[in-house]
Amino acid sequence: MGGSEDRLDLPSNILRKIRNAKSASVLTGAGVSAESGIPTFRGAGGIWEKYDFTKLATPQGFKEDPRLVWEWYQLRQKEIKKAKPNAAHITIVDMEDHFPRFSVLTQNIDGMHSRAGSRNVVELHGSIWRMRCERDGLMIQDDDPVTEIPPMCQCGSILRPDVVWFGEQLSPDVVDEASRVANESEVMFVVGTSAVVYPAAALPAITKNAGGLVIEINLEPTDITSYADASLFGPAGEMLPALWNAAVRIPKAL
Ligand code: OAD
Repeated sequence: MGGSEDRLDLPSNILRKIRNAKSASVLTGAGVSAESGIPTFRGAGGIWEKYDFTKLATPQGFKEDPRLVWEWYQLRQKEIKKAKPNAAHITIVDMEDHFPRFSVLTQNIDGMHSRAGSRNVVELHGSIWRMRCERDGLMIQDDDPVTEIPPMCQCGSILRPDVVWFGEQLSPDVVDEASRVANESEVMFVVGTSAVVYPAAALPAITKNAGGLVIEINLEPTDITSYADASLFGPAGEMLPALWNAAVRIPKAL
């Protein structure tokens, strides 16, 4: 047993509920990819400390300087491409094999859950690996960083990253699907999100209000902590495997 198991002070009824749930979900944020070397947005060393989001992550910023925005996205694509899924991503794949119904609801645009092997992934904020034309609706998926900056559509317009920027709405279909999943989840694991960006931050409350368990994993307390059934403070790549061992792997082996 490693040190993380010692920090796992979960009552046996919670572990049993996790193990026996028929429907579960994980809501992830940038913290789940931190141990893969992909920077988070907030906190020390966070992206928004170093970069101006109004220039890089708003429709106005893109309109003013699409080249600058694409240079930044290309840099992030290269960083993400080099990264490898970590133990938290991999544990989430194991969860999908265990629960009869399971979805990953992610705010991340890095595609790391799918690369790790998760199948049922709802990307709330889009994907850095897709771009689209706002004029004719063309959508292009590419697993490699862009080479032409800015990338152009055949219609002559500049393509944009298919991500949700500040001031933009999430796709209504995606919000409906995430709300449905949250409502039917007997347990939702909330991993590595500061829970300040809505509507994603409201999803755990949907699960809680529908009678489900909310289990949080983060380095520090968030707004979720006040109503979570349990909060585990530590790195996701250690705490999530430790939790999964305690709830499912070890009881199964006994
Ligand atoms: P944030 O950067 O706001 O928060 C990351 C969270 O992960 C913090 O609460 C950290 O404490 C926690 N964390 C960091 N390292 C961790 C680790 N190794 N293990 C566990 N937890 C860790 O990222 P998000 O909550 O994802 O939106 O941010 C939400 C949205 O704001 C993003 O999707 C993005 C951003 O601006 C858009 O761009 C629309």
